[in-house]
Amino acid sequence: MFGRRRGSGPIRAWLMAAAAMLGACAVTAAAAPAPLKADPDNAAQVALGKEVYDRNCASCHGAHLEGQPDWQQRKPDGRLPAPPHDWHGHTWRHPDRQLFGFVKNGVAPYSPPGYQTDMAGFAGILSDAEIWAVIAYIKSSWPEEFRRYQEGLTRRDEAASP
Ligand code: HEC
Repeated sequence: MFGRRRGSGPIRAWLMAAAAMLGACAVTAAAAPAPLKADPDNAAQVALGKEVYDRNCASCHGAHLEGQPDWQQRKPDGRLPAPPHDWHGHTWRHPDRQLFGFVKNGVAPYSPPGYQTDMAGFAGILSDAEIWAVIAYIKSSWPEEFRRYQEGLTRRDEAASP
């Protein structure tokens, strides 16, 4: 009886320490954001994305993501040229899900009815994994502050409708 009571001190201390550690883990888990589907820090994903980009996108968006000349001026046919995907363009102003939609379905479904565009969708040509990879590659070209800004858009968009 006496011995048990003497032993309860260290045991209680240990239990409290264990509980504190579990609590700390729970806090860390809650604070750590879910991994991004298009992760510019994932070297393997970025490498796949570069291959996808070079084969499918570079012809219009430029070998170095620079876009077509005078990309902000409509062409004689009324359509927009391909914008850059580096930070000079506006790709970084869109959350990941929207970029994914543009690449998979093309720009027309997200535009007013009858909108004419040269950006067709890649559904049936690229897998979803390849589309996320090309987005990761594009993001990897951006300076840190653009990446952080766009990650904020992506996180808010996903939190708004998971
Ligand atoms: C045939 C030329 C062409 C090809 C090939 C092409 N694009 Fe585009 N893309 C365009 C044009 C033109 C626009 C602008 C469309 C508009 O606003 O009407 C555009 C717009 C976009 C946009 C939306 C604008 C932005 O900067 O956020 C994204 C994202 C995009 N393209 C990604 C890609 C990716 C990724 C590939 C390769 C898998 C690709 N495109 C292949 C011509 C092309």
